[in-house]
Amino acid sequence: YVLILDFGGQYNQLIARRVRECNVYCEVKAYNKIGIDEIKKLSPKGIIFTGGPQSVYGDNAPSVPKEIFELGIPVLGICYGSQLMAHVLGGKVETCTISEYGKTETDYDKNCALFADAEIPSKAVSWMSHTDFISKVPDGFKVAAHTANCPCAAMYNEEKRLYAVQFHPEVNHTQFGVKMLGSFLKDVCGCTGDWTMENYAEKAIKDIREKVGDGKVLLALSGGVDSSVLAALLSKAVGRQLTCIFVDHGFMRKNEGDEVEAAFKDWDINFVRVNAKEQFMSKLRGVSDPETKRKTIGEEFIRVFEAEAKKIGHVDFLAQGTIYPDVIESGAGDAAVIKSHHNVGGLPDYVDFKEIIEPLRMLFKDETRKLGQELGLSETLVWRQPFPGPGLAIRIIGEITDDKLEILQDADWIFREEIAKAGLDRSINQYFAVLTNNRSVGVMGDFRTYDYTLALRAVETTDFMTAEFSRIPYEVLEAASRRIVNEVKNINRVCYDITTKPPATIEWE
Ligand code: XMP
Repeated sequence: YVLILDFGGQYNQLIARRVRECNVYCEVKAYNKIGIDEIKKLSPKGIIFTGGPQSVYGDNAPSVPKEIFELGIPVLGICYGSQLMAHVLGGKVETCTISEYGKTETDYDKNCALFADAEIPSKAVSWMSHTDFISKVPDGFKVAAHTANCPCAAMYNEEKRLYAVQFHPEVNHTQFGVKMLGSFLKDVCGCTGDWTMENYAEKAIKDIREKVGDGKVLLALSGGVDSSVLAALLSKAVGRQLTCIFVDHGFMRKNEGDEVEAAFKDWDINFVRVNAKEQFMSKLRGVSDPETKRKTIGEEFIRVFEAEAKKIGHVDFLAQGTIYPDVIESGAGDAAVIKSHHNVGGLPDYVDFKEIIEPLRMLFKDETRKLGQELGLSETLVWRQPFPGPGLAIRIIGEITDDKLEILQDADWIFREEIAKAGLDRSINQYFAVLTNNRSVGVMGDFRTYDYTLALRAVETTDFMTAEFSRIPYEVLEAASRRIVNEVKNINRVCYDITTKPPATIEWE
């Protein structure tokens, strides 16, 4: 177990993911939400300080008590974390005359454990992003790296097992960065690196069994990665004590409702699919405002789920597919806040249950996927791209009709097929079709047409907060466009959306 003390740096999650990539379990805690006594109690094998936006001399600059360096626990400071270590231990931090930003040629001292690995050369590129630097290392420390403009790009005190780097080893642009983190974790902290999804699954199943006992568990299954993996995990743990309610609102992609049912109906669980398309459609008749659509679907979803849950009666646990990024983003502790923005409603109020369980709470998305594979879920489910709760309803601009829904499902299917054929389905983070409400004139054979314009959207992003449009090869776009206008009725024009987020959002509504 490694503790990551978060000072508000933009790469805090990335550090945690890299540590986990080294098969070492870690948790991120805000620096001001954990005291020295708790750290002692947790007794981590190592502590990592993240970067942060402040200067150590700033008003209310985040800090740590000196005692943290006297616990005998190895510490690695990164960027702000390195300056903080220097500052608290009596070194000196100053503002650079030239701030360093981006890829920077760096010289490493091979005697320092961080850089001792045979694969790390004595000169390589690191990723810098700082305006302050360590101008004097504390007593007992040695400088372990430098760049043209930064005399101390790393420092260490071998005896006390304290290490610090000015650059960001967690960022891909730092060559051998993960190796350096690995050296800290394994060679300095003595971590064994046995955190794998196989071990996790075993432990999680045991923990769930212990917690649930012979109680009943209820899960709203959407068919998305998180809820599917959770269903698989719970099924292994408590079998038929679990009921999964899959509300099919009819706005899934083509065949998807059936795929979800096929994936789960033979598992050892109670699987309930509610086909509620007519109910949703009737509520959406005449509705074209995006927010009204979302609200209507959210409310209807709750109603349908509630009616189904009532049939089951009291349950002991309501399971939720919260994952670690949600936990970190909401300040390491208060998971519901971020998700509720995107989730389809406030379920817990409407269901008679005793307690919420969130067994994926400590996993990143890639770990969740690995766990899914470990548990035997199909590739299609494990690698599903994110899909909004209201589904295709917010990808049909204007009023939703059965015809429009079918047109969009067919067009979206073809686009996805072409992307997969081109081998781009894992590198593009989200790709889909949008049925605009626009009609335009076209010609087919000798006839004039007046049909819909379809928009294709494909984005590359890490956090879905910002996104770039994907530079899909023209040939792939061309193949998709040709097939769509030929094979899907009522579409005579296809456009590709080339806006970034911001200012556009990923979805059109
Ligand atoms: P936007 O359109 O805000 O979308 O750029 C960002 C990401 O969130 C997804 N999204 C949703 N996910 N329920 C969800 O579970 C929703 O209501 C919802 N709306 C948008 C969107 O697909 C993208 O991945």
